Amino acid sequence: MIVVSGIQPTGNLHLGNYLGAIRNWVKMQDEIDADGRCLFFLADLHAISQPHDPAELRTGTLEMAAALVACGLDPSRCVLFNQAQVPAHAELQWLLMGTARMGWLNRMTQWKDKAGKNREGQSAALFSYPVLQAADVLLYQTTHVPVGEDQKQHLELARDIAQKFNNDFASEDEPVFTLPDPFIPPAAARIMSLRDGSKKMSKSDPSEMSRIALADDADTMAQKVKKAKTDPEPLPSEVEGLSDRPEALNLVTIYAALANTTPEDVLAQHGGAGFGQFKPALAEVLVETLGPIRNRFVDLKDDREQLDAILARGAAQARELGTPTLDAAYQALGLVRG
Ligand code: TYM
Repeated sequence: MIVVSGIQPTGNLHLGNYLGAIRNWVKMQDEIDADGRCLFFLADLHAISQPHDPAELRTGTLEMAAALVACGLDPSRCVLFNQAQVPAHAELQWLLMGTARMGWLNRMTQWKDKAGKNREGQSAALFSYPVLQAADVLLYQTTHVPVGEDQKQHLELARDIAQKFNNDFASEDEPVFTLPDPFIPPAAARIMSLRDGSKKMSKSDPSEMSRIALADDADTMAQKVKKAKTDPEPLPSEVEGLSDRPEALNLVTIYAALANTTPEDVLAQHGGAGFGQFKPALAEVLVETLGPIRNRFVDLKDDREQLDAILARGAAQARELGTPTLDAAYQALGLVRG
């Protein structure tokens, strides 16, 4: 089993990233056997596909590395790095650009959402972003990609690119790329905004109140939960009763994920309670789970020397691990390299 996943180092790590992805990364790192390997990276090359401030990207990258270690990633048990130190990601992207079809990229919902009506004004990087994501995964013969629901379409595209490349340029018994499987957690795959139960919790939402950030202190977390949008009804005792109450469903989902239980169990315990009662209980599990992570993050985030060393070491490992596949892709395409 080869596990690979990435996160953009723009903005703070939030509860959606943690419950939808990072918590599974840590679990997979802890459970992987001796033949397997986990690689996790900061998608800094993806971050330049939209307008950005270079100084913020620099600090954001180091802070996100600190956040991942604080969440439980252990650089001695997984390969932790940033794309910019592993040129093979960008190289393989270019090699795959000949295989990816414009029509496939045009159908990506993230492209459509981010570009909106102004497609002509977007960077070419934003459009070809999923090809870089395919390269990230295909470079390492990845079998499993732990992500939240919103990345599923990008991973299906990575499979399509791998399949077409193998068909066009490799023999059936010696494919260049392994087809990766997305690994999406059954619960918490899509944590919604605290202000609007129909929008996912996201770094790009202008309202800080829409998300719980890992860097929030206990009072801020409690305030955000208290102000979270809800409806006036008490919680039902069955999950079916949440079907047309997206904000209530979101809070119950978050509670269940944090307490490692199911929404059914949460409702068995809290059914009939109003939000005045439920919200403080939710804030308590939130602070209990994220509090220790936040403390580790605060201790590590300004230790530039240690963070640089972690990323440099991870990048050296990643460069070595990616070389055979990159070489095979150049070779398959007929590119002469001496
Ligand atoms: P990014 O940085 O937006 O998010 C990182 C991870 O967090 C998950 N996630 C969520 N899960 C549940 N609820 C939410 N509200 C929520 N918001 C975010 C995402 O699904 C993701 O798993 N393009 C990717 C980064 C990337 C990547 C890759 C991922 C680049 N290359 C290769 C996997 C494999 C992104 O922007 O994720």
